[in-house]
Amino acid sequence: MQTILLVLLVGVGLALGAKTTQAPRVITDQSQQNEIDDLKRIVSTLGRQLMMQQLFVEERVRSDGASGLKQIRLQEIGTRPYHAETYVGNSMASLHDHANYDRTVGLGEFIAVLNGVEFRTRHNDYKLRMPSRTSSAYHATEDIPFPGVPPEVTKLSSIQEQINEMKEWFKAWWSQDKSKRDYTKYFKPVLCFLEGAWTYSDGSLEESFESDRHFIDAASWFDLHEKTRFTSYAGRKSNLENFAYLPTTIMEMINGSVPRLAQWNYRILCHPLSKDIPFSRFRLVDDLHNRVARGATMEKQRGTRRARFQLNPSLVLDAWGSSEFSQSPDFLDSLMEEIPGWDNYKGVLNDTLDDDTAWSLNEDKPVNTAYYHRWFNSLKEGAMGINRRHRGFSDNNVFMAQTTQPNVAGLSYTHCHRKVCKTFHQKWTYAIPLEIVYLTPLQSWNPYNLQHKGDYKSTLGKTVYDGPNGTRRNGLMTKAEAFNGINTKAYYITPHAFFDKTGTSPRDPADTTRAAVGVLDRKGVLRAMTASGPRVFLNIPDVGEVRLRWPIAPVHNDGNVIFKELEALKDMVMEQGKYMGLYRTSPVGDGNSTGSVTPMTGNLELVTGPGTKDPPGDHVHTLRINPTDAAALQSGKKVTVRTSTDQGHSHVLRLKYDAAKKTYMINRCDGKPACWDGHPLQLNMT
Ligand SMILES: *[C@@H]1O[C@H](CO)[C@@H](O)[C@H](O)[C@H]1NC(C)=O
Ligand SMILES: *[C@@H]1O[C@H](CO)[C@@H](O)[C@H](O)[C@H]1NC(C)=O
Ligand SMILES: *[C@@H]1O[C@H](CO)[C@@H](O)[C@H](O)[C@H]1NC(C)=O
Ligand SMILES: *[C@@H]1O[C@H](CO)[C@@H](O)[C@H](O)[C@H]1NC(C)=O
Repeated sequence: MQTILLVLLVGVGLALGAKTTQAPRVITDQSQQNEIDDLKRIVSTLGRQLMMQQLFVEERVRSDGASGLKQIRLQEIGTRPYHAETYVGNSMASLHDHANYDRTVGLGEFIAVLNGVEFRTRHNDYKLRMPSRTSSAYHATEDIPFPGVPPEVTKLSSIQEQINEMKEWFKAWWSQDKSKRDYTKYFKPVLCFLEGAWTYSDGSLEESFESDRHFIDAASWFDLHEKTRFTSYAGRKSNLENFAYLPTTIMEMINGSVPRLAQWNYRILCHPLSKDIPFSRFRLVDDLHNRVARGATMEKQRGTRRARFQLNPSLVLDAWGSSEFSQSPDFLDSLMEEIPGWDNYKGVLNDTLDDDTAWSLNEDKPVNTAYYHRWFNSLKEGAMGINRRHRGFSDNNVFMAQTTQPNVAGLSYTHCHRKVCKTFHQKWTYAIPLEIVYLTPLQSWNPYNLQHKGDYKSTLGKTVYDGPNGTRRNGLMTKAEAFNGINTKAYYITPHAFFDKTGTSPRDPADTTRAAVGVLDRKGVLRAMTASGPRVFLNIPDVGEVRLRWPIAPVHNDGNVIFKELEALKDMVMEQGKYMGLYRTSPVGDGNSTGSVTPMTGNLELVTGPGTKDPPGDHVHTLRINPTDAAALQSGKKVTVRTSTDQGHSHVLRLKYDAAKKTYMINRCDGKPACWDGHPLQLNMT
């Protein structure tokens, strides 16, 4: 029995589901037996108390805030607290591009809360994958199909004609004009979401979703816990951002004395939506702290990676109106209800306790609780006399789904009526939406018919990099260095001319424009190509800058009482005219004030030209220069700044201002005359 005590006291965090078999013991005297009984009782009480402690923490988090994102990794500090990151910094939830991968969506580390469980992710970089449509196996997933290419494009013979026609499709989509081209067939929104659950595991680490770039860098859950504890203790990080903080809990005490541990785990998947999402559905959320830190107007913020959106809840109208509260499933529910929990798309379950089944609000049938939902009707009236229910006590953001997976830890509930007792056992997973990503025909349009050699780790896929005489191809614009075909990591199928600012004139491939990556076609002809994987923005000449990723993640603070008060105050301050009637006394400067106004100076934002060396692959960096440094540059001084992190790295640039050309130039890059990955010296304004 001492072994059991040891497992409990030392073992929280030790190998999950630890073996507890032991040799039978011969008890010789009564006092020994009494001692053992005492120890059993103590173990049982301590175990129970640990479970209640975990419940206390979760309950505390649940009342402090809702399910949502909380914080990303700190990169900057400043003279005001909001100069440091929250859930948004230089981008919302650290989103970024890895467009040279065919289906990788760049997303950094963050801290999130799901139904009161707070955890920290690894660097996510998730893939465009969905739950399996055919299998209900644990974590069975499949690739989301890319949309096709309009035949109006492919039927054209010349590349230039195809480019022009493709631009027309992008114009139709971006201006939401279906009259000439029904873009909804080729521009498909997918909803990407974050899920979490308590799981049972034999101690071996379980990677619950795929990434081409990241994996949890630990041998077992125990190893991960120890590494995370160390990095938190020492303030270090895994350089590749491959550690996650994922809590454990005692789910039950078997026979009152054997603890059964559960491990929290999460995953990010996407779901192809059954309907189009018009852009008029999105409204920018005013993350004011982020706007003030960067001196960005609402309009400016909307066009950056920092933007966060909200979907119009109306089930009737796409465009935002004024009536904005809802008491029943809204538009977001209609999207999330298409997404299954961990029984995958085939799942059919109902939530029945004491003959009381969770009933749909819209149709006369039980809610299929194998799918995510927030609202339901209880057929038995509750203590408050209403039978409409929202999952959770006060969590406005949480979506829940039931599952039958043996690996998910469940709980039981026993109810007795006239001495007849029934026990119900349920398992749940939790989810919030993260972002809507539009897939476009660019992901499959391959006008040069380049050979797709498949997975970059496969034998054929690797030949993309095989150069002459044992050299390695890196995608530069020479026959010896250009990629030999494409693979899932060198996914360059879009002709560079599609993005070429000079427009219609076909380019001489020898004219090595920096943004172009060289790829050999099936006949060995060198082609100037651009990466075709998911991106936040695409800047297409004649069309403009189009947004493909629309973050809609809710935040933990949404459920916090102080935040609710602050948001109300923010609305009153930011829209004085609208809320004038609510002021206790009318504000100073109400239109009669004659005081002069000095507007604040915004930051100078620059972007580098593209670096095309592969690795690290096609990318640019952004730079932010505060007004003091900008003035210093203008006066001829040199200023050193660190760029944004893209494709896993950043640069330290010494800048100078070229007054004659009125441009900002790189003077030194990482202490060298030029950047190792080939960014041009001239910087552009954003
Ligand atoms: C719990 O008790 C039952 C009955 O005594 C026994 O069969 C079972 O092995 C025990 N479980 C554990 C994990 O000790
Ligand atoms: C709920 O599911 C159980 C098990 O599949 C089934 O027996 C029961 O009839 C269902 N209840 C309702 C109300 O559909
Ligand atoms: C490969 O090596 C041969 C023999 O040394 C040489 O003639 C040829 O030019 C090399 N090819 C390239 C592309 O470097
Ligand atoms: C401005 O002052 C005039 C005259 O005192 C007053 O009638 C008017 O209501 C004031 N405007 C506002 C917006 O308070």
